Amino acid sequence: MLRDEDRIFTNLYGWDDWGLEGARRRGIWSDTKALVDLGRDKIIEEVKTSGLRGRGGAGFPTGMKWSFMPKESKDGRPSYLVINADESEPGTCKDREILRFDPHRLIEGALLASFAMGAHACYIYIRGEFYGEASNMQVAIDQAYDAGLLGKNAAGTGWDFDLYLHRGAGAYICGEETALLESLEGKKGQPRNKPPFPAGAGLYGCPTTVNNVETIAVVGEILRRGGAWFAGIGRPKNQGTKLFCISGHVNQPCNVEEELGIPMRELIERHGGGVRGGWDNLKAVIPGGSSAPILPKDVCDTVLMDFDALREAKSALGTAGLIVMDKSTDVIYAVARLSRFYMHESCGQCTPCREGTGWMYRVMQRMVTGNARSDEIDMLLQVTKQIDGRSICALGDAAAWPVQALIRHFRDEMEERIRDYRDHAHRREAAE
Ligand code: NAI
Ligand code: SF4
Repeated sequence: MLRDEDRIFTNLYGWDDWGLEGARRRGIWSDTKALVDLGRDKIIEEVKTSGLRGRGGAGFPTGMKWSFMPKESKDGRPSYLVINADESEPGTCKDREILRFDPHRLIEGALLASFAMGAHACYIYIRGEFYGEASNMQVAIDQAYDAGLLGKNAAGTGWDFDLYLHRGAGAYICGEETALLESLEGKKGQPRNKPPFPAGAGLYGCPTTVNNVETIAVVGEILRRGGAWFAGIGRPKNQGTKLFCISGHVNQPCNVEEELGIPMRELIERHGGGVRGGWDNLKAVIPGGSSAPILPKDVCDTVLMDFDALREAKSALGTAGLIVMDKSTDVIYAVARLSRFYMHESCGQCTPCREGTGWMYRVMQRMVTGNARSDEIDMLLQVTKQIDGRSICALGDAAAWPVQALIRHFRDEMEERIRDYRDHAHRREAAE
C-alpha cells in the first residue's frame, strides 16, 4: 500500500486550489531552476533510474524514449514535446483529474521534460469533450506566463519555452500518437506507419516525443525526490506510483493513486469499497481500459496490478482503468458493446481493421442472442487473429483482444447461450 508521504497527486480530488497559489503550496514550481540546472543528461539519467514507464497504456520506458531525441538540432529542425491529453479509453478518467485539479504539475513537468529533450515548444493535445479541463488548463497556462514561468527565460532557468493547448474534436483514434500528430498538423487524424517513430520524424517532420499526461506530471516530483525514491515503490521494472480508475460494480467508484503491483483484490476492496454483493459475487474485471483483455474471477483473486503481472495473465495494465463486473453481468453483451465501439472508432485506413471490426461486431451481436453455430466461435477466433498484428495501429489489435479473451475464458457461456437458443427454437417449432 502506498504511504501518504509518497503520494504525488495530492490534489487528485480537487480539494485544494488548482491555480498557481495552490500549486505553489503543494511544492510545484518551488525549485524548478535548480532542477533545470541539473542539466539535460542528468535529468534523463534520473528518469531512467526512476524506472518510469509510459502511463498512457503501452508502458514504454520514458527515459529511454527521451534519449532517442537528438542532442543537437539537425538542419535547424526544432524538437517538440507533445503531451497526449486525448484520454478516451473506456473506463479511464485519470488524466482528466490532473488536467482540471493539478494543471501546474503538468506545466512544470512539461518545462522540465522539454528542456531535457532540447524542445523550446510543447503542445498539449486535449480531448475535445474535456471542455472544463481545457478551460482550467488554459487559465493555468496564462497564470504561468503572467508569473514568468513560461515564455522567455521560463521560471528563471535561462530556457525559452512556450506551451500551447490544442483541443481535439472528439475522435478516439486521435489518441494514437501519430494520428494525434496528423490532427495537430491540421490534417485528418489517421495513424502513420511506424517506423519512423516520432523521435525521428514527428510533428511537422521534426524530432518529437509524445508522452501521456500522467507521465509528464510525475517528472517534477521524480527529479525533486530522486529517481531512486520512485524506483523504490512497486516491483522491479514495474516501479512508482500509478493512478487507477475503479468503475463498474463496486460500492465506491473512484480514482486513486497507489503503488504499481498492488494486488487487484486489495485495490478494489480498499479503495473501491469492494465488489457489489461481496468478492464472491465478482464475475470478471477488465483491468486496464477496454483494450486490456477481460479476466475471470479466479485470475482476479491473485493477480497484481502492474505491467508484467497482467501481461503474464494474458491481459494488460493499459491505462489502469478497472471495469469491475459482478455476476449479474452479461459478459458476452459487454464485449459485443466494445466491438461496436471499435467498429465505430476505426479510422478505416486499413482493411483488416475496417472490415474486421464490423464483421466481429455483427457476429458478436448474434453471439449475444445465441443465434449462431458453435463452430462459429472458432471462426470468430480465427478472424480476430487475422486482425491482431496486421493493422497500422494498435486499434485493430485492441478490437481483437477482448473477443479473444472472451472466447478464452467464457467459451462455455457462449456455447450454453447457443444451446439455449436452439432449445427455445425447437420448443417454439414443436408448439406451432
Ligand atoms: P506502442 O507500444 O506502439 O508505443 C509506445 C510508445 O513507445 C510510443 O510512443 C512509441 O513511439 C514508442 N516506441 C515503441 N517502440 C519504439 C521504438 N522501437 N523506437 C522508438 N520509439 C518506440 O503503443 P501505442 O500504440 O503508442 O499505445 C498503445 C496503448 O495505448 C494501448 O496498450 C492502450 O493501453 C493505450 N491506449 C490508451 C488510451 C488512452 O485514452 N489513454 C486510448 C487507447 C489506447
Ligand atoms: Fe485506422 Fe484501424 Fe488501421 Fe488503426 S488499425 S490505422 S484505426 S483502420
